[in-house]
Amino acid sequence: MRITVTVDGTNYTDEVEPRTLLVHYLRESVGKVGTVVGCDTSNCGACTVHLDGRSVKSCSVLAVQADGSEVTTVEGLERDGRLHPVQQAFHENHALQCGFCTPGMIMQSIDLLADNPDPDEQAVREGLEGNLCRCTGYQNIVKAVRDAAHHMRPGAGPDAERLSREEAASHVGGGGE
Ligand code: FES
Ligand code: FES
Repeated sequence: MRITVTVDGTNYTDEVEPRTLLVHYLRESVGKVGTVVGCDTSNCGACTVHLDGRSVKSCSVLAVQADGSEVTTVEGLERDGRLHPVQQAFHENHALQCGFCTPGMIMQSIDLLADNPDPDEQAVREGLEGNLCRCTGYQNIVKAVRDAAHHMRPGAGPDAERLSREEAASHVGGGGE
């Protein structure tokens, strides 16, 4: 089947098998290897991307279901050489050890902050409960998400960048590559 998908601001048209998973399409056809596969049971969250602005586990979505949609991967977050505030906060708070869970954690965290711009620790833990960190780095991950929330608040300074879902979509669409 032929599908057309916008991935990180660029349009791709490809032939895929009806059973091809979105994560395999992204990695093997589009080359977005920053999105990783950590399980075969849809429970680790390492493969999380945004599909039309909402986080999804891309191992639980068929590529054909993304036809006509906009996908954002962790590789599409950087702008003009600057990390997204959530990426920056993960970096500054040492919220990664082996880094395997990090792409999915970051994508899920952005989605969580779009729903709740000022989550307390419990809300962050609940928002990320579908994402597993095998290095058990949860404490710093929670810190990073709350730190990012602080920096993304309106009026937080020149680096403030608060993304609602719509803003996130136009952010990606308008950025190009
Ligand atoms: Fe998708 Fe684990 S690879 S949830
Ligand atoms: Fe290693 Fe999370 S940092 S799995």
